Amino acid sequence: MQKAWWKEAVVYQIYPRSFMDSNGDGIGDLQGIIKKLDYIKNLGITVIWVSPIYKSPNKDNGYDISDYQDIMDEFGTMEDFDELLKEIHQRGMKLVMDLVVNHTSDQHKWFLESRKSKDNKYRDYYIWKDPVDGHEPTNWGSYFSGSAWQFDETTGQYYLHQFVPEQPDLNWDNPVVRKEVFDMMTWWCEKGIDGFRMDVISLISKPEEYKDGPVKEGEKYSFCGAVTANGPHEHEYLQEMNQKVLSRYNLLTVGETSCVTLEEAKKYARSDGKELSMVFQFEHMDVDSDEHGKWTDKKLYLPDLKEVLNRWQKGLEEVAWNSLFWDNHDQPRVVSRWGNDSGEYRELSAKMLATCLHMMQGTPYVYQGEELGMTNMHFSDVSECDDIEEKNIYIDLVTDTKVYTHDQMMDIISKKGRDDSENAGFTTGTPWFAVNPNYKTINAAAQVEDPDSIYNYYRKLIELRKEEEVIVYGTFDGLEDADENLYIYTRSSENKKILVICNFTEKELDVPASIADMVKENRGILIGNYKDISEKIRPYEAVVYLTK
Ligand code: GLC
Repeated sequence: MQKAWWKEAVVYQIYPRSFMDSNGDGIGDLQGIIKKLDYIKNLGITVIWVSPIYKSPNKDNGYDISDYQDIMDEFGTMEDFDELLKEIHQRGMKLVMDLVVNHTSDQHKWFLESRKSKDNKYRDYYIWKDPVDGHEPTNWGSYFSGSAWQFDETTGQYYLHQFVPEQPDLNWDNPVVRKEVFDMMTWWCEKGIDGFRMDVISLISKPEEYKDGPVKEGEKYSFCGAVTANGPHEHEYLQEMNQKVLSRYNLLTVGETSCVTLEEAKKYARSDGKELSMVFQFEHMDVDSDEHGKWTDKKLYLPDLKEVLNRWQKGLEEVAWNSLFWDNHDQPRVVSRWGNDSGEYRELSAKMLATCLHMMQGTPYVYQGEELGMTNMHFSDVSECDDIEEKNIYIDLVTDTKVYTHDQMMDIISKKGRDDSENAGFTTGTPWFAVNPNYKTINAAAQVEDPDSIYNYYRKLIELRKEEEVIVYGTFDGLEDADENLYIYTRSSENKKILVICNFTEKELDVPASIADMVKENRGILIGNYKDISEKIRPYEAVVYLTK
């Protein structure tokens, strides 16, 4: 297999608003990140991805950008950015920027011009359509509830927004738009950044025809992503981006590819390097969804998760490359979701989940606080929430359609929503968003010192990945027929093989007969979350054997 630095990387994601506040205004900032670089370096991280830090009216917390070449005032200045990049490089780490180019903010100068008149020079930078029978051009529904079209009085036309109305979609079919985006990317590359995480990049190429999509019973709109994802010119545009920008630098590129299939991923992340290094797929994030999407408290059935991840591991082997993640700023905390965040099992289950993910093939991503086993926070009213997606879905499923009661919905928002509490020590002022009341037990200062902490367990996992090539490049084989409460797989290279066993329950389980010999003849334990060994597989146990 072809080697690459980004295949050997371990990425740490920072959501700047709630990471570290250096000036006491309650909002995280770039100087705050600089203060924490040693902490991140000490974890063994090699790449940092920062969520958007550009100028933004914050209708979607920075994912609505009004100037791609300037820094949000609350986060600092371009000088702070230059210092951050220098400090990251000085520590031997790299920096990946968030690239949000499916849409801009409605306050971006291109959109302010575009909406002025039909013959404005910037009109075709966005997607404008005439009303059909006095209504929206199609029945497409936005990712964040409601229609994906917004009527604009000035010119009597609708514009497309797959997210909130303040995030108008750019028209990628316009070559001038592509050139603007590529020039902007080049500008950042010339500054010396090391890659891009590309926001909803699978949605940039829109369908040739704008027509209604299918609507589920009881719903008004047809989910736009089903019609717009992986569009007709998607790969052509990414190849053009690759030729004009990416291939000229040595970058890590990861596409956030909503609605991606395995077959599509093989095109996006193909090992010939013509498009991206890797993609984020979301099939495994959907295993506990139902007809209301993620807004349900459906429990995880482990065989479903194994089926998805094993298929992606095998499916991309040799031909493309996986990214590995449990958490990010759009997802709930994994220890609360698929582990056990109450009391005695929090630490064990956080370490088990980390082991399960970090021993797979692909580039692992750690979301800020995951390395501390941070948990979801409970909200009892939407007024406590900040996120637009949560506010809209509450109206949809409680006020309008009465699918859930208030209490049920608040429970689901607490479990599945994007609002995430901040870490202890985050600020000396009043934080812009609540700090989880459990910060006294879950905090970084204590964990760095404690050799048995979740933080130091992550550190060991990351170190192992650097020491054992089989963890990066070895072949993956899932043992799918074993106990349904266990996740078991092997990784093999020419001269090494490891066996990974993870118990996703609080039950004590027997070693399945199919791996009994492998376990008996093991050549040592690489890592495990219990200090001693046992004949049985204990609650939330994770153990990695060197084997033959
Ligand atoms: C991506 C981001 C999410 C954002 C959306 C629109 O899914 O991860 O946070 O709201 O795109 O930019």
